[in-house]
Amino acid sequence: MHHFALKNGVLHAEGIDLSVLAETVGTPLYCYSTATIIRHYQVFKAAFEGLRTLVCYAVKANSNQAVLKTLAGLGAGMDVVSEGELRRARAAGVAADKITFSGIGKTEAEMAYGLDEHILCFNVESEPELVALSKLAAARGKQARIAVRVNPDVDPRTHAKIATGTAETKFGIPLSRARAVYRLAASLPGIAVSGLDMHIGSQITELAPFDDAFARAAAFVGQLEADGHKIEHIDLGGGLGIPYREEDPAESFHPDRYAKVVRRHFGPLDRKLIFEPGRLIVGNAGILLTRVLYVKQGLHKTFVIVDAAMNDLVRPTLYEAHHEIWTVRPRPAADIVADVVGPVCETGDFLALNRTLPEPHPGDLLAILSAGAYGAVQAGTYNSRLLAPEVLVNGDDFAVIRPRGTYDQLIGLDKIPAWLR
Ligand code: LLP
Repeated sequence: MHHFALKNGVLHAEGIDLSVLAETVGTPLYCYSTATIIRHYQVFKAAFEGLRTLVCYAVKANSNQAVLKTLAGLGAGMDVVSEGELRRARAAGVAADKITFSGIGKTEAEMAYGLDEHILCFNVESEPELVALSKLAAARGKQARIAVRVNPDVDPRTHAKIATGTAETKFGIPLSRARAVYRLAASLPGIAVSGLDMHIGSQITELAPFDDAFARAAAFVGQLEADGHKIEHIDLGGGLGIPYREEDPAESFHPDRYAKVVRRHFGPLDRKLIFEPGRLIVGNAGILLTRVLYVKQGLHKTFVIVDAAMNDLVRPTLYEAHHEIWTVRPRPAADIVADVVGPVCETGDFLALNRTLPEPHPGDLLAILSAGAYGAVQAGTYNSRLLAPEVLVNGDDFAVIRPRGTYDQLIGLDKIPAWLR
């Protein structure tokens, strides 16, 4: 569900005409819908009515301050994976006791920062990390609340690059070893066992992998308590898939279906449940707006060359991801089959391959849908292209929430050593 729709023949984000927005801000640009973000958060939260839950939005999906502030205002907690994300969450007004810190490679400086901020929980991913955290906490006279991230060895049946719940990946601690790690945790100074954590992957579109993983987690909580640990919360991570294709039935992604599985396994345990959804909250709340530069005929193919590229949205080339492409001002035109490509000098620079779309003309605007999650945050300046600006729409209002930089700023990041001056 989202708030991008045609009004009077022009695609709008809520009340904002996207052709006007493109004129005003320039393309390419990211545009997010406040109403969509709010709705997704509320629908997710409401799915667990009656349970004690904390929704810790995964900052990595979209870390713009305005997006974080929107969610913080709704009461969201946040899951962070770096000091940068932790600082972003705090800057957006998220209380430290609503922040979980995930990730396999937290540095000492990052853990120290989290300790000084008194965050809710460190999701620990290895014994050496646990020991390092214990030393830091003890030296500071603090208690680090921890959950061990377990790897349930469940195939989430998603793209290999975003599957994290199988034993072959670098994530979590195998269930077979996790009991010993809890024992170690309970023996270490500065460590307070507080929960259990897992996250099995992203863009998961079936319930069965969650069902399997949750069954293992719930059984494991029983074991841990028999061992004498107090498991106050269970963090189930994120990973809920979103519909990327128009033909995907939106209903099958509804959080209520996921919540039913959660309730079945964890309802009887009556623990606080933490969730870390990222994509579900912001994915379909954002588009990448781009202008057609040229339409080029190849020998076998047609190429629609647009002003957005893989540096702006890397998902199609990195994960073979499908993003719907809509014309901002549709007019009667014959369909063509084309590759929609950017100006970057790589064959891998594409936004869509063999896509059927109404024949566009130079100057036309296209909207790349479902680009709100893992879009702007994964952008770079390859080919010395400026980062695309980000715009947040709120009803009939919009604001540039990250301006396009300047070439002087881009080049000014480099410093000339003395011997070249
Ligand atoms: N929690 C942890 C510990 C995570 O590693 C992730 C995502 C999440 C929560 C949020 O998962 P979500 O609800 O968004 O699926 N760049 C890739 C996705 C990478 C996901 C990484 N971890 C993409 O564009 O598909």
